[in-house]
Amino acid sequence: MVYRQLETRQWQDLDEAHYLHPFTDHKALRSSHSRVAVRGEGVYVWDTEGDRIIDGLSGLGCVTIGYGRKELVEAATAQMTDLSFCQSFFNTSHPAAIRLAEKLVQITPEGLNHVFFQCSGSEANETAVRAIRRYWKLKGQPDKRMIIAREKAYHGSTQVAASLSGLPDMHEAGGDLPLDFITHVGTPYAYRNKPEGMSDEDFGELAASWLEDKILELGPENVAAFYAEPAQSAGGSICPPMTYWPAIQKICRKYDVLLAVDEVVMGFGRTGKWFGSFYYGIQPDFMQLGKGLTSGYLPLSACLMSDRVADVLIEDGGEWAHGYTYSGHPSCCAVALANIEVLQSEGIVERAEAELVPHFEAKLAEFVDHPLVGNVRSVGLMAGIELVANKATGEAFPFEQRVGNQCSVEALKLGLAFRDNGDTMALMPPLVMTIAEMDEMFAIARQAIDATAKKLGIM
Ligand SMILES: Cc1ncc(COP(=O)(O)O)c(C=O)c1O
Repeated sequence: MVYRQLETRQWQDLDEAHYLHPFTDHKALRSSHSRVAVRGEGVYVWDTEGDRIIDGLSGLGCVTIGYGRKELVEAATAQMTDLSFCQSFFNTSHPAAIRLAEKLVQITPEGLNHVFFQCSGSEANETAVRAIRRYWKLKGQPDKRMIIAREKAYHGSTQVAASLSGLPDMHEAGGDLPLDFITHVGTPYAYRNKPEGMSDEDFGELAASWLEDKILELGPENVAAFYAEPAQSAGGSICPPMTYWPAIQKICRKYDVLLAVDEVVMGFGRTGKWFGSFYYGIQPDFMQLGKGLTSGYLPLSACLMSDRVADVLIEDGGEWAHGYTYSGHPSCCAVALANIEVLQSEGIVERAEAELVPHFEAKLAEFVDHPLVGNVRSVGLMAGIELVANKATGEAFPFEQRVGNQCSVEALKLGLAFRDNGDTMALMPPLVMTIAEMDEMFAIARQAIDATAKKLGIM
């Protein structure tokens, strides 16, 4: 194959010379070098050295059905052969986008009956924010412009999505962020934010009350929407208590604040239910999907809107000056349809919930006593293992020590993709993993954490 024509070192030299990677310190990369991946099958990826890596991260939370599924390749090939591109701006449509919109409406919570397509999760959030702002203007309430998001949220890397994100380095990277109509509240991060002695149930309600406080501070007449992931992934696998979302929903209704739920990671089975909204019992006005929509085979995202919103945009809005060349790209839509067909016909989400999630939770429980581990948390097949300097007090390591990063480097050497979100180690494996593969993943994760602890003199 063409990529075998170069030696690994030559690939790395070329990579460092020209290719700017996302979220990367390129100066550091010149000494650590990239691992160059060439092939994937099932839950494994191989690099140019022939080394096999078990993918504990589903790529980036997207490769839900694993690598190398011929059905998706065939769907893309057939669609490219029939109609390789179709714009959807000027009174033109095509079957793949029409069928996918219908399918998404069928499988998501009731009332989300309208779908806008883009390529990335960030763009889906752009679409939602533009629609939220437009909705309130058309309703004659232009002052309702503030959007409340959460600390440690991750919603993507465009200026709007980075503003929605609650990560200071994302704001720093974009200049003057967040944009002036976006603000943040605390998040239901029990390990760090729960007052001592409080039950999880009470903490869920307390964390929801921070939204109400913020709405009252800004004035409900100025608040357009609340924006959140059902459970937070990149911010450190933060899984809210079950009392959180019902309380949030009540507050949004009470103050007539739209609820936008970013399901870019949680959608398509990550929680063990098809959508995080089903798991937590959320009825959103907006739902953003990406990643697992195509299992990462092609880039596609969807922004679903409720009748309440879409009816106003459609009836009162005239032309909406918003859209992308690749909105509803035929091949991406055909691949998404094939992906959903595989998920449904093989009962992948249902099997993950019944068989994989209990095993995942049992294996995770084995990390609780590890001297380097302060907290273990999970929802469905997403977990966070938080590494701490002092297990008794929960004291964190200094940021500059980059302990999580040391652990992920160890894991990759051992053949596991194990992500560090700060010092929280994340696992979110493909939903098609076998029990034996899961055992292998956890065994390597353990070795990587042990090796990190030894280096730090903690074991
Ligand atoms: C919850 C969430 N929303 C949005 C995004 C952005 O998606 P993309 O990277 O496709 O723009 C991500 C990416 O990780 C995400 O985790």
